[in-house]
Amino acid sequence: MATFNYTSDYFWRLALAHDPKNPMQLELHPGLNCGLYRCQYCFGHGQPLNPGRYLSAGEYEAIAESLGNSRPTVIISGIATEPLTHPDPAGILRAFRSRGFPVGLYTKGHNLNTQVREALVDGPGECFVTVSIDAGTSIDYKRIHNIASSKNEEMVHAASFENILDNIRALSTLKREHKPDLKLRASILVFEEMAQPGKLADAVRLLQDDVDLIRVAIAQDRNDGQRLDTLPQDREALLAQFSLEFSNNPKVAILTNSNTPTRSTAFKRCIVQRTQVTIDKSGNVFPCPQVALAPYENLKLGNVRDLSLPEILDSDRRKSMFDMDIDTEMRCRICDRKDEAINASVSGHFEAFNKILPDVIESPAQDNPSQILFRSR
Ligand SMILES: C[S@@+](CC[C@H](N)C(=O)[O-])C[C@H]1O[C@@H](n2cnc3c(N)ncnc32)[C@H](O)[C@@H]1O
Ligand code: SF4
Repeated sequence: MATFNYTSDYFWRLALAHDPKNPMQLELHPGLNCGLYRCQYCFGHGQPLNPGRYLSAGEYEAIAESLGNSRPTVIISGIATEPLTHPDPAGILRAFRSRGFPVGLYTKGHNLNTQVREALVDGPGECFVTVSIDAGTSIDYKRIHNIASSKNEEMVHAASFENILDNIRALSTLKREHKPDLKLRASILVFEEMAQPGKLADAVRLLQDDVDLIRVAIAQDRNDGQRLDTLPQDREALLAQFSLEFSNNPKVAILTNSNTPTRSTAFKRCIVQRTQVTIDKSGNVFPCPQVALAPYENLKLGNVRDLSLPEILDSDRRKSMFDMDIDTEMRCRICDRKDEAINASVSGHFEAFNKILPDVIESPAQDNPSQILFRSR
């Protein structure tokens, strides 16, 4: 029996109708490293970056300009780096903020300095910042992020819990004065420290006056397949307990479905790559944030120093990947939670037509989901 679901059918059609030249999301990974942070849980832990000189703020201006009237949401983050370790992060922010792109920054916050804060609040348009904090005390903060010791006092101070809180407070004050619509969020991945009674409540108390939202979740397995032994044990019950505990606090959002750290294998095709791309620090373009690393060079779509971003977006190379099998051809299966949810939500549609029209699927010339869609009406 095949199942049919109107919602998945709608999103499937929407994705196929989407113009690949006009992405919804452009993610940038400008960071050079992580400073003193060596987070053991990190998605990209231990995985090498692609080689190459980093893009200057001027080159980011050229990328922004090359997009013409297209205005994807620009996410400034990393998969194995901290974005604010770029020498001129304020320049990157201004390149996109000044042109009216919606901009989101994901950061540890240790380099959230005056220039960066001012660039974030300068001008109209959507802007959101998520500081990943994962701890509520100085000792837990240092342990969870495996902060390296250093003789460089400035770096040690920057990576201290106290400095992160100061930076959040300074951004919060600036936001209230100049850009109240900036969304300032804290994200907390729960490890065994935060699972202890009262710890999350203490962290929430410290943060809630300065942030708009505190997002709480369990970490996914690392992209090398490793799971940390510091994940809490009964994760489902813990998240349910947090949900109850903070049910009256509108600033706390518990991702109750994040209890399973393993990746879903319920879908075979990647539909989100039709609407997004990621550029690593050296200008290499990839179909998603998780694969912008040397082990996934097979998925590289091109480099903005060789071809313009619109040319890469419209390339046959990129479009040929849309119909590839994730396990056998793309060889990734490391979607982040958002992309996994999107791919899984339309998989029923693909599988349904897979079952209805096996002869169509078996024919290489017609192994194209859009044809399957139209033939099956
Ligand atoms: C990879 S980090 C890069 C940006 C920055 N260095 C930071 O840590 O915020 C981007 C986001 O991914 C989250 N993250 C990292 N490893 C994760 C994992 N294994 N599961 C879930 N989220 C993870 C971080 O907490 C952060 O919010
Ligand atoms: S979570 Fe962020 S800061 Fe920590 S190692 Fe990963 S990229 Fe670096």
